[in-house]
Amino acid sequence: MASGLSLEILDLRHFAAPMLRPVLEAESAMWRERLNWDYLASAKLLLQYLDSRSLPGYVAVDAGRVTGYVFCVYEDSKAVIGDVFALPEESAHSLSMGPDGRRGAGREVEESLLQRLLELLLHSPGVDRIESQLLLHRDGEHSETFLRSGFDVYRRLYMRRSLIGTLSEARFDLAAELELRPWQDQDLNAAGRLIAEAYRDHPDSLINDQYRTVHGSQRFLQNIVRFPGCGVFSVQASHVIVDRISREPIALLLGSRVSSQCGHITQICVHPQYRRLGLARLLLRVAAMQFQRLGMTELTLTVTEANSHAVDLYQSERYEIAHSFNAAVWVRA
Ligand SMILES: CC(C)(COP(=O)(O)OP(=O)(O)OC[C@H]1O[C@@H](n2cnc3c(N)ncnc32)[C@H](O)[C@@H]1OP(=O)(O)O)[C@@H](O)C(=O)NCCC(=O)NCCS
Repeated sequence: MASGLSLEILDLRHFAAPMLRPVLEAESAMWRERLNWDYLASAKLLLQYLDSRSLPGYVAVDAGRVTGYVFCVYEDSKAVIGDVFALPEESAHSLSMGPDGRRGAGREVEESLLQRLLELLLHSPGVDRIESQLLLHRDGEHSETFLRSGFDVYRRLYMRRSLIGTLSEARFDLAAELELRPWQDQDLNAAGRLIAEAYRDHPDSLINDQYRTVHGSQRFLQNIVRFPGCGVFSVQASHVIVDRISREPIALLLGSRVSSQCGHITQICVHPQYRRLGLARLLLRVAAMQFQRLGMTELTLTVTEANSHAVDLYQSERYEIAHSFNAAVWVRA
């Protein structure tokens, strides 16, 4: 582990963004290489929080130098672990390369950081749920640390398709009572109702409890539409299908830009009464077309492996598994 004896784990709130910059830059390079994701653009909010010294978490300091960090955010009585990352050790001589091609030291420092944060959260009586999705880290990379602390761990897939060349056509022969139109800001409340309905008893509502209520789903939507945490929201790629009589959305797809070449689907769902009509396929094709028009060369999404119908749909739309990662959840007994 790093230089071993000199490694200290300290409170993140004592460190402003500039001290973490070398770590964030190394992390950013890994986001680009693994996921084609412009991490620093998405991390603007993180940098602001760091500067306001208000983010709960820890840094690893080795011989006076910050080599890693972990942080979480609180949402009422839930804590969401946002990220953990440590610099790979440069002095390779005593270190073996891990199966993922990363130096062992970076992994070990990340584990120490995670362990410290988990100890804090598990012993905080105000915290009764902890969620984490470490998108950058490969399936299994930190799962032992979570499992040892009593978490359930789920496998999620990061899927990618090319937008180069001619795309499959989006068929617009919707039933007469349905209308496809671009997302509007005022759709947010009704879209929250749709998400809560679409994810009832769904594996993803085990991973993210916001899906279980209308209010939680609206909060989830606000995060992806208004804040850059999951890429920059793309209004051009985002569409809803509404019932012309009730004016309620019955299906939606939201997209964002995660780098100058890569679009990302942050949400897709269809009301249970309107499934198997080809609506999700239509929304995916419209999004692919729109992202292609915006100059993107690839389109990505994440899906829980157990959500096999969705995985089948994506594969049939030429998405391939590019990476797999874990979601971890702990609930106080
Ligand atoms: C996944 C979901 C979006 C699919 O919506 P949909 O409009 O029913 O999907 P489509 O009608 O376009 O289906 C396209 C293909 O998906 C697969 N599929 C979708 N639902 C399926 C089911 N219940 N059983 C078997 N295959 C299914 C099939 O391959 C289907 O093609 P086919 O009808 O030609 O056989 C919808 O079930 C949903 O909202 N689920 C809950 C939210 C969710 O899981 N979102 C995805 C998160 S990553």
